[in-house]
Amino acid sequence: MDENPRRKTILMCPPDHFGVAYVINPWMEGQTARTDPSEARKQWLALKALIEPLAEVAVLAPQPALPDLVFTANAGFAIDRQVVVSRFRCPERRGEEPFFRAFFAARGFDVIDPPDDLHFEGAGDALHDAARDLIWVGHGFRSHEDIAPFLEARFSTRAVSLALADPRFYHLDTCLCPLPGGYLMYFPGAFDPASRARIEAIVPEGKRIRVEAADAEAFCCNAVALDGTVILNQASPALQERLREAGLTPLLTPLTQFIKAGGAAKCLTLEIQ
Ligand code: ARG
Repeated sequence: MDENPRRKTILMCPPDHFGVAYVINPWMEGQTARTDPSEARKQWLALKALIEPLAEVAVLAPQPALPDLVFTANAGFAIDRQVVVSRFRCPERRGEEPFFRAFFAARGFDVIDPPDDLHFEGAGDALHDAARDLIWVGHGFRSHEDIAPFLEARFSTRAVSLALADPRFYHLDTCLCPLPGGYLMYFPGAFDPASRARIEAIVPEGKRIRVEAADAEAFCCNAVALDGTVILNQASPALQERLREAGLTPLLTPLTQFIKAGGAAKCLTLEIQ
């Protein structure tokens, strides 16, 4: 019997054509053409190097004129061999859809479209909480509210809908991160009161890792959790300590170039199996 946990596969796309070419979230304001391509490549390679000992990395070919294709979290939402692919809200990103779809089809995934013109931005807004086998689903800025019941039915997994209330935290993965051991890192200020109450009803106090605004603004919730390791752009000493108390090891790697586009570690990755 194989006692090792299954080695995961993470999809990433090199930043050859990354940049800020349009403004579709508050982080991109004033950043048009202000990213540094060689610095972005360095940061992306450092992230990949931290992931490689922990998971397989599958690489999607970068495409000209699709500067946000690096954010593979938005390709779709997959569990096992089933994927619900994204239908982007912003026309600027719709050109990415065929490349993500082709990738999943070539890998033998059962490719499912979101229903009737509903917008859905993949693992930006849908996060599988493996410890409690549920899917947290965000809406309010990008994905449609009716995506949650759709995912629940397709994956036969409970979906919990959360309303996002702060435009800086426009995707759920910018303000909430399920962690091993049933821990949940989140920024309460990003949610409406009913959604905050929903989180608190499901996750016991001792398992909640509430983050302060300064950590949230440094994209700490946009973390990649693999086994007991949590890879993130930045975290205050207090947050690092809290993660260690939870039995997790924080690894910090600067992703400042990508934050100019509104994304960090988690956005640059997608767990595909
Ligand atoms: N510029 C991209 C957008 O606004 C950033 C996407 C970040 N991805 C994420 N999963 N949060 O769509």
